[in-house]
Amino acid sequence: PHMASKPALTLLIAAPRGFCAGVDRAIQIVELAIERYGAPVYVRHEIVHNKYVVDTLKAKGAIFVAELDEVPDGVPVVFSAHGVPKAVPAKAEERGLEYLDATCPLVSKVHRQAERLVDQGRHILFIGHAGHPEVVGTFGQVPEGQMTLIETIEDVATVEVADPDCLAFLTQTTLSVDDTAEIVAALQARFPAIKAPRGEDICYATSNRQGAVKAIAKRCDAMLVIGASNSSNSVRLVEVAEREGARARLVARAAEIDLDWLEGVRTLGITAGASAPEVLVREVVDRLAEHFDVTETAVEGVEERMVFKLPRALQAA
Ligand code: F3S
Repeated sequence: PHMASKPALTLLIAAPRGFCAGVDRAIQIVELAIERYGAPVYVRHEIVHNKYVVDTLKAKGAIFVAELDEVPDGVPVVFSAHGVPKAVPAKAEERGLEYLDATCPLVSKVHRQAERLVDQGRHILFIGHAGHPEVVGTFGQVPEGQMTLIETIEDVATVEVADPDCLAFLTQTTLSVDDTAEIVAALQARFPAIKAPRGEDICYATSNRQGAVKAIAKRCDAMLVIGASNSSNSVRLVEVAEREGARARLVARAAEIDLDWLEGVRTLGITAGASAPEVLVREVVDRLAEHFDVTETAVEGVEERMVFKLPRALQAA
């Protein structure tokens, strides 16, 4: 008797995908802090939203906590890539804690704009997702009541503002490019005097990854997005694929792939969120290769050259 041959499966692996410059920098900050200060190094919040990354850093000596008061005196603490409210570094200073800020510079840029707009007397409508740590961090840059969250286009219709002539909007960095454009258009229609951010707040990595999904989704029967369910940019990639007509699912690891779901799929798209390491993409491809006769098709995409500087305390002497 001969072995049944495996069904053919063509893989289209999106480019660019996976780690962005902000995630890369945040992970380096934790690793270098462990080298510099010795373990343990505390990290407030998941450094980036990926369990594999967090577990790898734990094994090297990082301890993850939800709040600063869980950090003992006398040990260094790193703040996550998503950014923190101003009260957090202030509290760390008050306690004399050594802290390293891994906030992505593109998030910090939004923070500085928020401060400046409030100084100019403007009220900020902030487009983002309630409860996401980046949103909590950005709200914490300005005094309470100076910023209002806009989550949906319906919110634009119902939001009440004191002075429609003194408004500005800003956005989370990891939103859907298309949804945000609609929300912004609605804001500008209702509040013609609203001040727009200088550049785009949605970051280059978010928009490039969404563009890369759009570039392949129409050719795919289904699409797997490697990323965590609490990773905003990863969840957006699933939505983009679905809107382009591909069935799409988010998987954290290869073991989560549901083979039944892949039945009848001839062409499968694969991408990874900005916090998902490339090793997880290879793990997914390897698992698929156990069950399918896979062919990887190269996909061309925009080249990314963004690199962010490390905090001064960690730069090589
Ligand atoms: Fe920064 Fe964008 Fe990555 S804001 S952390 S470059 S997803």
